[in-house]
Order: sequence, then structure tokens, then C-alpha cells
Amino acid sequence: MALVLGIETSCDETAVGIVNDRKLLANIISSSVDQHARFGGVVPEVASRAHLEAMQQVIKQALKDAKVSIKDIDAIAVTAGPGLIGALLVGISSASGLALALDKPLYGVNHLSAHIAADMLDNEKTLRRAIALLVSGGHSSILQINNLVKDVKVKGATIDDAAGEAFDKVARIMGLGFPGGPVIDSEAKNGNADKIIFPRGLSQNFDMQKHRYDFSFSGLKTAVLRYLEQTPNYKKADVAASFQEAVVDVLLTKSLAACQESGIDNLVIAGGVAANSRLRQLAIVRCQAAKVELSIPPANLCTDNGAMVAALGSLAINEGLAPSQLGISADSAAEISRVIF
Ligand code: KG4
Ligand code: ZN
Repeated sequence: MALVLGIETSCDETAVGIVNDRKLLANIISSSVDQHARFGGVVPEVASRAHLEAMQQVIKQALKDAKVSIKDIDAIAVTAGPGLIGALLVGISSASGLALALDKPLYGVNHLSAHIAADMLDNEKTLRRAIALLVSGGHSSILQINNLVKDVKVKGATIDDAAGEAFDKVARIMGLGFPGGPVIDSEAKNGNADKIIFPRGLSQNFDMQKHRYDFSFSGLKTAVLRYLEQTPNYKKADVAASFQEAVVDVLLTKSLAACQESGIDNLVIAGGVAANSRLRQLAIVRCQAAKVELSIPPANLCTDNGAMVAALGSLAINEGLAPSQLGISADSAAEISRVIF
């Protein structure tokens, strides 16, 4: 049983989580999203500075919530990539300083694997083979998880925009604000998802040979733009619902095909887009029909947080992996295969 403090700073959330083995004790998030909203996307320099300003307070609050002292912490985990380089470096510096001062091991972890590790908090699930649909602002992949900390294979990925990026871009062209996922999710609740049939990228027969488990969302974004230009008095809620349906449909169709074709009857959905209410709802229906067991972390653990980083650190310890060297650097484009740095 190890008490692990996890630090996440890969984008605009300064987040610290504390876990005791698999039990979640604290999950504090300070977001700089309001400072980026007027730019319609995250400004890296602004994010880095905000991490620096928020870090101490977020750590203190997490320790307070967990009712533990910093001296009780057995290991420090930190996101080392992928993400914004300057933002990652603030987290790594803070984590390295703590590890050095406390003389405790440091685990630099992969942000993408950490999203999936969030699924292991507060339950008894074992590390088992699964297909994972990882959908965030920067990534959209179908993975075969043989062992989350030791053996992950990429089956497919987006060839252009990530799913979350598509939500953000479409929200921007519709004037709904940033980040786009949550606003489209809520707008779509009042809309008709069958009103407009938007394209499902890379789903035609000829695409399926080469891109069976790959995604493409840029054509969908253009289709939404064209629809808005050509349709006077369109209803925002219908566009949001129909766009969301196109994304969710293709994500689930390809993930379930991956389950069936690899003979794996577990699907884990993780990453910020996994907070989407329609994705969560339709996943339950489709997985039941396909007799596939579905796991999705609670919505607040799908978007970036420190608890998922602590969870992955804790799994690494339990699996006997060696800690990172002090002095690790950030890898802004880290592949999922690089789990511990
Ligand atoms: O994993 P995450 O918090 O950060 C990255 O690692 O990128 O994912 C952020 C992305 C954003 O693009 C955001 O719009 C999207 O997740 N997102 C959602 C929802 N909540 C966040 N997308 C759809 N529906 C949501 N409810
Ligand atoms: Zn993320």
C-alpha cells in the first residue's frame, strides 16, 4: 500500500491527486481555462505561468483533503508527456523538487496511459486485456491493452483532428465558446440528433481496408461549416446534436469492431471526450448489444486530473516497475508505449 501524490500540468489544468494504492483520497484541480477562452484555444505561455502560480496552493489543498502530511507520501508521480512542453516542465520541476526533498521515488508517467489508469480507482478491477478508446483534446486512438504499464499496442488513431479538437473547433464556428465539448454536450440535449446526417469519417468500404481503426474528423468539421453557411435560420441545438451523434457513432462503431475482431470483450473509454453524456449513454446500449463489458471512469475523472496520474504511479509501483531518474525531461510528443519515463 503506497500513498502516491500525482501532479498533472500537461495542458491548462494544474491538478494534484492523492491515492492510497487504488483508493482516491484527494483530487484538486485549478484551471486556467478562463484566461484562454478569448483566444479560442490554450495559449502555452499563459498555461505555464498559471501552473507556476497555482501549484503550491493545489498541493496544499490536496494534502488537506486527503488528511495526510507531505511527509506521509511514499512516491511522487508526474505527467512527463505528451503535452505542452513548458507546462509539463512546471509539473516535472515541482515533482522532482518534492521527490528530492522528501527522498522518495519519482515516477514520470505518460498522460495517455494515466487517462486509462483513472478507470482503476476505487474499485477491484484487475489489470486485464482490454480494448481502449482514448479520446481527448489531442489524441483519439484505439489501443489494445495487454498490460497497462507494460504492453500497449496502437490499433488505430486519428489521421487529422482529435475528437476533442473537433468538438472545440465546431463549437468555435458555432460561436458556442471554449472548450467546446461541454457546451456542445449541453446544447445537444435540446436538439434532434437525426436532423442532419453528417459524414462518419473513414467508414466507407474503401477506407476500411487501410484505416479500419483510424479516425478522421476534419471532413465532419468542414461539413458542419458548409451546413451553417448554406442554412439560414438553422437550429444550433440540432447542429450540435447531429454533429455529436456523428462523432460518437464512429467512435463506438470502430471500438466495438476492434473488440470483436481481436476477441477481447472489454472496452475501456477514457480521456476528456469520455465525459460526453451521449457517448456514455450510447456506449452502454451498444456494448450491451455486442456483449462487451464496458468501463468508463466517472466523468470528473475523464477530463485532465491529478488522481489519474497518481493512479498510474500506484499501478507502476504494484507492478514492480523502477522509478524514474531525477532529472527526467518532458517529452511533448511521447508515444503511449513510453509509460514510465
Ligand atoms: O483529456 P482532456 O481533459 O485534455 C487533453 O488531454 O486533451 O480532454 C480535453 C478535451 C477537450 O477537447 C474538450 O472539449 C473535450 O475533451 N471534452 C468533451 C467533454 N468534456 C471535455 N468533449 C465532449 N463532451 C464533453 N462533455
Ligand atoms: Zn488529457
